[in-house]
Amino acid sequence: MNILFRLLTLFALIILICCTNSREDDSINVSVVEPKDGDYDSSDSSSTKNLGEDDIRVITKYNRKIIQYAQVDKTGDYFRRMFIDSASAQAFLQTGIVPQSAIFYLETWFGNSQSTVYIRQKNNSEWESNSFSPSLPNYQVTFDQSCQGCHFTARSTESVFTLPLLTKALNRGKIQVIECNQTSFNPCDLKTYQGN
Ligand code: HEC
Repeated sequence: MNILFRLLTLFALIILICCTNSREDDSINVSVVEPKDGDYDSSDSSSTKNLGEDDIRVITKYNRKIIQYAQVDKTGDYFRRMFIDSASAQAFLQTGIVPQSAIFYLETWFGNSQSTVYIRQKNNSEWESNSFSPSLPNYQVTFDQSCQGCHFTARSTESVFTLPLLTKALNRGKIQVIECNQTSFNPCDLKTYQGN
């Protein structure tokens, strides 16, 4: 009888643990995804285009813990990849508002070769910017009118063109890939950035 009781308790405990876990799985906890060494190594050509269909995961890149949430294919062999620091992604998932100090990254790629990285950081509700070479991360941001002017087009989404893609990526746990048939910095219709 005693053994039966113990077995029942154990069984109940297992059920409890299972259920709690599966409930947690329903929301995407981006911070628990482990970084993999060598992910997104710019010298590895396989880490370019195809990663667009990948699951969201936290990686260490540019000396920070970041996640890729989008890829925008532009005219020709040119594409851009968007990242955000993982802590801000977590906060955004919970509140729907970009938190202070959030950093957005824009990688520029021509085929397999990576060019300049652009960053924008939300400081005191203003966006400050910088750009650096992939091997020399530099987080010293300042207000830059040239960035601001064009990004103002996306003011309905906090001046972040790809914000709707971030929402979708976090909810689906997948990097969102879209096409914008324009060259380099030229924006597409804002509807394009709503994604698929
Ligand atoms: C002429 C317009 C234009 C200018 C100027 C511009 N951007 Fe952008 N930026 C875009 C567009 C459009 C996107 C969305 C991706 C795409 O379609 O290329 C984008 C995306 C970004 C992103 C990813 C987050 C987001 O908003 O989607 C970052 C980071 C970024 N730009 C940084 C900068 C920085 C830093 C500067 C100034 C040095 C700058 N941008 C200047 C048009 C511009």
